[in-house]
This record gives sequence, structure tokens and C-alpha cells, in this order.
Amino acid sequence: IADVQDDIDHELVSAEKIHAIIEHAAAQASEDYRGKDPLLVAVLKGAVNTLASFSQALSIPCQIDFMSLSSYGSGTVSSGTVTIRQDLSTDVRGRHILIVEDIVDSGRTLAWLVEELKRRGAASVEIFALLEKPARREVDVDVKYKGLEIPDEFVVGFGLDYDERYRNLDSIAVLKPAVYQGEQA
Ligand code: PRP
Ligand code: MN
Ligand code: MG
Repeated sequence: IADVQDDIDHELVSAEKIHAIIEHAAAQASEDYRGKDPLLVAVLKGAVNTLASFSQALSIPCQIDFMSLSSYGSGTVSSGTVTIRQDLSTDVRGRHILIVEDIVDSGRTLAWLVEELKRRGAASVEIFALLEKPARREVDVDVKYKGLEIPDEFVVGFGLDYDERYRNLDSIAVLKPAVYQGEQA
């Protein structure tokens, strides 16, 4: 395809709305974490855009680190198993961790990560999630800084991918059905 926009059926969340959501959450987190030197942990790859915006919207000092986890293969359905593709480079013992995620779907990725960071000795672990799909939740996850709840549609953009593409859209959008043609449900 010539242009990433060619595959978009419709926009669900505009770039302006995304930034308003992030700024609201970051203002709250800036109050809550003042003096705590938080470590922002972003789950690669989807959380990259959210981390960049969220960290810039914080008014307090923070550190950032990355962990690459995957619960999806190339398709649109969660495999249910979380695997570490790349680990943190920071010792989290005694640290106040704020996980930054693009989306909570089944909740399996975050439920696993929260437990893992606590097991490693973090002083506290909280979550900012830009998007949540409540209809698909399978595991209970306590999201302290909530973004936007969206319906059960497969969405891409602002870090979210379909088969590793469309992460570079600046808004959140739904793809044309033809894009998924051939995928086994
Ligand atoms: C997606 C998304 C979340 C996770 C949410 O990541 O970015 O991290 O799935 O799903 P869950 O709540 O059902 O666990 P994905 O595994 O596709 O990897 P990616 O971030 O590299 O795209
Ligand atoms: Mn992800
Ligand atoms: Mg993905």
C-alpha cells in the first residue's frame, strides 16, 4: 500500500483526544509521585508512543525503562501466554514503578507484569493504561490511572499494531475488514 491511511476504515480516538487523556493522567501522577523518583516501565512495543507523550507531560523527574513482552502472535487474538522478549536494565528493588501501557485487553500481560515486578521487590507498582477494552477482560487488573474505555473492536495506531504495522499512526483507528482477509478466526 502506498499510504498508511489507505487501510483505515475510521478513526476512533483523535490525536488531540489522546494527548488530552495523557495530560490529565500525567498531571495526577505528577502530584502522586512528587519526591518519589518513579521508574516508568513501558511494555514494548505498543507502549512506546504512550510513554513518550506521558513522560513529557509529567512535571516531575522520573526514570524510564523498557520490557518487551508479547501475548499476541501476528494475529488479532491473544495467545494467553506472556513471554519476555527483552528484560529491564534497572534493578527495581525498592523502586516506585509506574507501568505505562497502550491497552488492557484480557489483562494477562499486565497481571503477569505487576506480579513479576512485586516479586522482584518493587516498593509499589501502579498502572497507566491509555485504552481499556472492558468487554474482553479475563483477569483482574487494578489500573490506577485510567485512559479511555473502548468497544471490542481491533484497533491500531499510536503504538498499537496489526501484524507489526500501523504503530506509526498518530491516532487510534479501526482497519478496513479487507485488511484481515485470510486470517483464521
Ligand atoms: C498488546 C498490547 C498490550 C497487550 C494487551 O501487546 O500492546 O501490551 O497486547 O493485551 P492483554 O491485556 O490481552 O494482555 P502485544 O502482545 O501485541 O505486543 P506489542 O506491544 O509488541 O504489540
Ligand atoms: Mn504491548
Ligand atoms: Mg501487538
